[in-house]
Amino acid sequence: WSVKSYEFIQTTEPRPGVGQITLNRPKALNALSTPLIDELNHALQSFDKSPEIKAILLTGSQKAFAAGADIKEMSTLTFSEAYTNSFIESWSSLTTSIKKPIIAAVSGHALGGGCELALMCDILYCTETANFGQPEIKLGTIPGAGGSQRLTRAIGKARAMELILTGKSFSGKEAFEWGVAARTFPTFDELIEGSLVTAEMIAGCSKVAVMAAKEVVNKSQDLPLRDGVEYERRVFHSLFGSEDQKIGMKAFAEKKKAEWVHK
Ligand code: CAA
Repeated sequence: WSVKSYEFIQTTEPRPGVGQITLNRPKALNALSTPLIDELNHALQSFDKSPEIKAILLTGSQKAFAAGADIKEMSTLTFSEAYTNSFIESWSSLTTSIKKPIIAAVSGHALGGGCELALMCDILYCTETANFGQPEIKLGTIPGAGGSQRLTRAIGKARAMELILTGKSFSGKEAFEWGVAARTFPTFDELIEGSLVTAEMIAGCSKVAVMAAKEVVNKSQDLPLRDGVEYERRVFHSLFGSEDQKIGMKAFAEKKKAEWVHK
C-alpha cells in the first residue's frame, strides 16, 4: 500500500501507534460518495498493514461525522446499476477486512450511512449533542449499509423500528443511554482527546491479543452464544502459541512491565 494523497479524507499519526482518519468533505457535510469511500478503504487498509499502527481513530468535523450516502450521486441510480455494481457493498470491507480496532469519534451529524459507518466501528464515542439517525424513509428508501440490522441489535427492535420508520434523529446523550456509544464528551476537542487516550491505551497492548479480542467480540454479533463461546475458546487456546502471552504472564509474575514482541 503506497503512500497516497487523498482528496476527501486526511490521515495522520497523532500518537505513537495510532492512525487517525478524518473525513474531510466539508461542503457536503462529509457525505459518503463512492470516491470518499474508496479513499477511506485505502487508508484503512494502509493503517491495517502498517507495522507501526495498532489502533485507528475515525472522525469527521465538529459539524458532521457524515451526513449519509451521497444523495446526489444516488438519485438517478437504477436498480440494475445498483445491483450489478454491488452499490454500498464495499463499505462493509471495514467490518470484514480490517483487523485492528477502529474507534469512531462522532460529532455533529451521523445520519443514514454516517450512522451506519459509526455503527460498523469497534468503539463509538460521541459528543452529547451528536445527531444520529436513519432518515432514509424521508427519501423514499431504507438504510442500505446495515443500519436496520446493526442499530436494531444495538438498541432493540422497539426503538430501532420507531427511528427507522419515522426517520427521527437521536442525540449523542441518547446514544450513550441506549448503549450505542461507550462514552460521551461535552465538546469536540474533549471527544478527540478522549478517543486518542483510548486509542493509545489499546496501542500499548499486545497487538496479537488486541486483534484477537476485536475478532472474538465481533463474533458475538454473528454467532449464537454456544458457537460464540466455542469460537472464543479456540482463539484463546491459540494465543498460548503467541510470544506475547508468555511475556505478559512472566512480566506479571516478576512484577515488571511487559515489553511486547508484537509491538
Ligand atoms: N448527500 C449529498 N449532499 C449532502 C448530503 C448528503 N447526504 N447531506 C448534506 N449535503 C449537502 C447539501 O446538499 C448542501 O450542499 P449545497 O450547499 O451544495 O446545497 C451541503 O451539504 C450542506 O447541507 P445543508 O445546507 O442541508 O446543511 P444544514 O445544516 O441545513 O442541514 C442536514 C444539515 C440536516 C444534515 C441536511 O444536510 C440533511 O438532511 N442531509 C441529508 C441527510 C440524509 O438524508 N442522509 C441519509 C442519506 S441516504 C443514505 O445514507 C443511504 C444509506 O443507508 C447508505
